[in-house]
Amino acid sequence: MGEVSGTSFTLGTAFRPGTVDADAVHAMVSVLDAQDAAPSIERLRAWALAAADVRRGDACVDVGSGTGTMTRRLARLVGPDGRVLGIEPNGMLRRVAEERCAAAGIDVEFCQGLATELPLPDASVDVVWCERVLQHVPDAQAAVTEIARVLRPGGRALLLDSDHASRVESDIDPAVGRVMLDAFMSQVANPTAARHLPRQAITAGLEVDPDVGSSALVYPQEVLMGSQMARLAAEQAVADGTLSREQAEEALRSQSAAAEAGWAFSAVTVFGFVCRKP
Ligand SMILES: C[S@@+](CC[C@H](N)C(=O)[O-])C[C@H]1O[C@@H](n2cnc3c(N)ncnc32)[C@H](O)[C@@H]1O
Repeated sequence: MGEVSGTSFTLGTAFRPGTVDADAVHAMVSVLDAQDAAPSIERLRAWALAAADVRRGDACVDVGSGTGTMTRRLARLVGPDGRVLGIEPNGMLRRVAEERCAAAGIDVEFCQGLATELPLPDASVDVVWCERVLQHVPDAQAAVTEIARVLRPGGRALLLDSDHASRVESDIDPAVGRVMLDAFMSQVANPTAARHLPRQAITAGLEVDPDVGSSALVYPQEVLMGSQMARLAAEQAVADGTLSREQAEEALRSQSAAAEAGWAFSAVTVFGFVCRKP
């Protein structure tokens, strides 16, 4: 995509089921690995696993399992008497997840599938993990209804997702930052995913715990030095005609310079909902 990004990874291809271009997949894996390493994401994951009391013997599904980080973790928690299935529509990401599981000596199954069409019978699962997936799903209500369908009575769905309107950036002119955020959000299917989850879960017949988890995903300085996501947002705004090339380059320069100095700040809030099937 164009001069700013210099890569085939674009906002329009990021985390789409059909994206198989090697550069784009490599970029997606890098983004997921960086997010896995974020202590704030680990805090939210640990909170959600404890709140839902994932236990030995549970049958679990990781919907939109990506590189399989949580699939592996769920497999360790449920032990040999449990069962974990990773459902991932992107064949390249699924292969990465399978390779990583094999390398870790963890025996879990992955299959192709969409959140809106889970390849599972009704009432067959104790725990559904669905992390930062529904922001990429245009009909998130259909996906949450599908998740509720496969849960057994007493089953729990852990729905963790971002709300990109909560994004904060330092060192980019606020007006330019807003234009970049609008450009970014225009390319994400469901950019304010988190705020709709309570309504969608209750509509699907689930009960939502009143204690909602949240954690700001704060990007490390090294990610903000020439940030790929900022480049893609800037490039999109230039393509939309809402930002000049000069404004885009200045915003990226300014963020990189702040990151070089060690004080750049960029974050988005991820919320976690524990939803129970009565
Ligand atoms: C940001 S990644 C998150 C991956 C993983 N859940 C994690 O937290 O590391 C989004 C994932 O959702 C998957 N995805 C996109 N659209 C989907 C859909 N309609 N149904 C299921 N998964 C989908 C993508 O292929 C990608 O693996």
